[in-house]
Amino acid sequence: MLGTDIAIDLGTSSVKIYLTGKGIVLNEPSVVAYDTQTDEVVAIGREAYEMTGRTSKKIAVVRPLNNGVISDFSLAQYVILHYLKKVSTNKLVMPRVVVSVPCGITEVEKRAVVDAISSSGVRKICLIEEPVAAAMGAGVDISTPHGCLVVDVGGGTTDMAVISLSGIAISNSIKVAGSAFDEAIVKYVRRKYHLIIGARMAEEAKIAVGCVYPRKEVISFLVKGRNALTGLPQAQQITCDEALEALIEPAMQIVGVVQDMIERTPPELVGDISTDGLILTGGSSRLYGFDTLMAKKTKMPVRVPEEPENCVAVGAGKATKFIDDMENKNYGVLNPLSAVY
Ligand SMILES: Nc1ncnc2c1ncn2[C@@H]1O[C@H](COP(=O)(O)OP(=O)(O)OP(=O)(O)O)[C@@H](O)[C@H]1O
Ligand SMILES: [Mg+2]
Repeated sequence: MLGTDIAIDLGTSSVKIYLTGKGIVLNEPSVVAYDTQTDEVVAIGREAYEMTGRTSKKIAVVRPLNNGVISDFSLAQYVILHYLKKVSTNKLVMPRVVVSVPCGITEVEKRAVVDAISSSGVRKICLIEEPVAAAMGAGVDISTPHGCLVVDVGGGTTDMAVISLSGIAISNSIKVAGSAFDEAIVKYVRRKYHLIIGARMAEEAKIAVGCVYPRKEVISFLVKGRNALTGLPQAQQITCDEALEALIEPAMQIVGVVQDMIERTPPELVGDISTDGLILTGGSSRLYGFDTLMAKKTKMPVRVPEEPENCVAVGAGKATKFIDDMENKNYGVLNPLSAVY
């Protein structure tokens, strides 16, 4: 075998890297902290994430990736290079890379992703559309004439698509996902308790007690922040029922867009989906009760694979076996890769 092939998922929340033969070898927050005066990078990944909301004016913490689209080119390039260096095992053979991109991204946006990665010296870059990768990562054989509906609820966006014969029949994407859930908690706590909390605290509360369908037992989580009226520190217990009240609105927005897409899906494919069920992937599919809510509202069975946040990277990793075909200009209809650079 000539070198290792690599798959990369450039998510809003985290970057995941898959190595053929090894699986997921890296999962780090897509966050960078830099000195605002010198533009020097001071921390990347988990270390930078810890600084979120805790920096002085001199340091800014940013997310240079926005659902597979680059929002800050030089910082994104820096992050990608840093992570590829971290995982590269063979210094002599340049790797080939499959990178997942959201469907519907423009040529210019694709070019930016390719340029950011190619500066790290890779030999070949292939693109795969995220829902296609997610379905493959969830273990679906997408090459058959059989419809499969994947809904990937990530950090920044929810991407959904009906896939058949290794291609996308219909797709949609909305900017309501993990961060919108966090924001909903921030707003709820502010409205009800005049308590101002940060996005990180809200995310912790969401993971601890969040739900979009009633939990069997009432649990609570202590959030800490500042009172908007007095300006003094304040702590408040938030129950899962309160979290439900806050989270149901963004959750129903996602469900609504899924319902809408199902209505526009050709009937034969809807038949397949209603038998097999809908597949929920992405980190936010771990939100308690999301599968139940989706199943009740769409009247379809719902499946959440193990490690749903890794599906896109694992699927892109599985698709590395199609790189040879792409290099030989054999873009067969059943090739899940969409472009080669
Ligand atoms: N147990 C959990 N309950 C609820 N949300 C969770 C849980 N675990 C992780 N999340 C959320 O999942 C999100 C990250 O998911 P994922 O890694 O799929 O995103 P991403 O691929 O980086 O983003 P995107 O696909 O939007 O670019 C975060 O918002 C995180 O808070
Ligand atoms: Mg993602």
